Amino acid sequence: MRTQPTPVETKAVYDEPAIQAHCRRVGATAVEVARKLGWKGEQQRALRAAADSHHIFANPVEPLPPRLMEHIWGFAAKPSAVGDPPGEEVAKLLEMSCFFVERWEFLPYEAARFEQMIEELRFMARDGFLESAHVEGLARVPRASLEEVKAVVSKLPVFPAAALKAMQLARNPMAGAVQLEQIVGTDTVLAGEAPRMANSPFDASTTPYRSIRQAAAAMGIPECCRILSAAAFRPMFQSPLIRPLWRHSMEVARIAELLARQTRKAEPEEAFLAGLIHDIGRLALWKLPARLTAHHTALLDHGCEPMFAEVLLCGFDHCSAGREVMRHWGLPDRLAEAVEYHHQPEQSDSVLAQVLYLADHCSGSQEDLPSMARLRHARERLGLTSEQLRAISSPLPLS
Ligand SMILES: [Fe+2]
Ligand SMILES: [Fe+2]
Repeated sequence: MRTQPTPVETKAVYDEPAIQAHCRRVGATAVEVARKLGWKGEQQRALRAAADSHHIFANPVEPLPPRLMEHIWGFAAKPSAVGDPPGEEVAKLLEMSCFFVERWEFLPYEAARFEQMIEELRFMARDGFLESAHVEGLARVPRASLEEVKAVVSKLPVFPAAALKAMQLARNPMAGAVQLEQIVGTDTVLAGEAPRMANSPFDASTTPYRSIRQAAAAMGIPECCRILSAAAFRPMFQSPLIRPLWRHSMEVARIAELLARQTRKAEPEEAFLAGLIHDIGRLALWKLPARLTAHHTALLDHGCEPMFAEVLLCGFDHCSAGREVMRHWGLPDRLAEAVEYHHQPEQSDSVLAQVLYLADHCSGSQEDLPSMARLRHARERLGLTSEQLRAISSPLPLS
């Protein structure tokens, strides 16, 4: 029989980052459903506080039983107002949210689409384990459709062809500054960005280059090509809100290139380009209508991983959105597949997808739950030892 946890046990669980992250996801899910069910703001705040405590036992696998949850709710909601939901309903809502979150946390081992996860919850509600109204509340949380994402994607700028040309030039050992100048000359965006090359985070030099020729002589053609390729994308990330995403994309591009060079399993220039665009789906999701992005931002602010927030509010993640962008841009299948599976490398034969997964990992990105199974899978596909992977860290001095 359970007993109350000792203060030491409670602290041990509270100090465990994985449990804290789980509790934040459960709280965020429960609040989204509560909002749908018409609970007041104060009740939502108390619900989140109760969610934070729903694994206070030393054995974090089992959530608290409803009776104890009622006490926690009573404490979190004090002074309780007339009309507050009964504690048992709170406990049941948290229980349903906990099941949903645990199913999401299990996705690396058993993939499922959002609709399938909802069906599983409905099945449990039919058997009397969950409240049907809560499951339906979760099913009706305001959600973007794939059609809405496609509409956003169709308004994105066209793929900057100069980026592809620059990376093709990087592969050519006979290439010279003249060809670089030709590429810059055909692209108005690049023509504007090129003079800023010396200020690129790729280049620690403080010496401004006055011309492409000077930059090429100092950095070499391949490096110039990479910088120009990145510069062609920069205008898409102008908003201050998505600047961190731009820095992350550049960092992943650099690491992906390193991984490709070291393992010789992928073409370094292609890996670099794949890294630059790997999270382009996140950019598309940022452009969804405000009624959806506001929820999304609130979930991120409460510490949920982007992948979780996307599944909860879209039913799909930025990898699916990225696939739509790849279609819109008409990029080669190799790049499209790498972008689509960069968080699920085990689902794809693409070597580039493995490279991107590991590059994301090395960058310290917390877009998704870390998965030992996926990490090992991607590492083994590339023939890397864990020591070799550990030795690869961010090569960029990022500001
Ligand atoms: Fe990602
Ligand atoms: Fe990423």
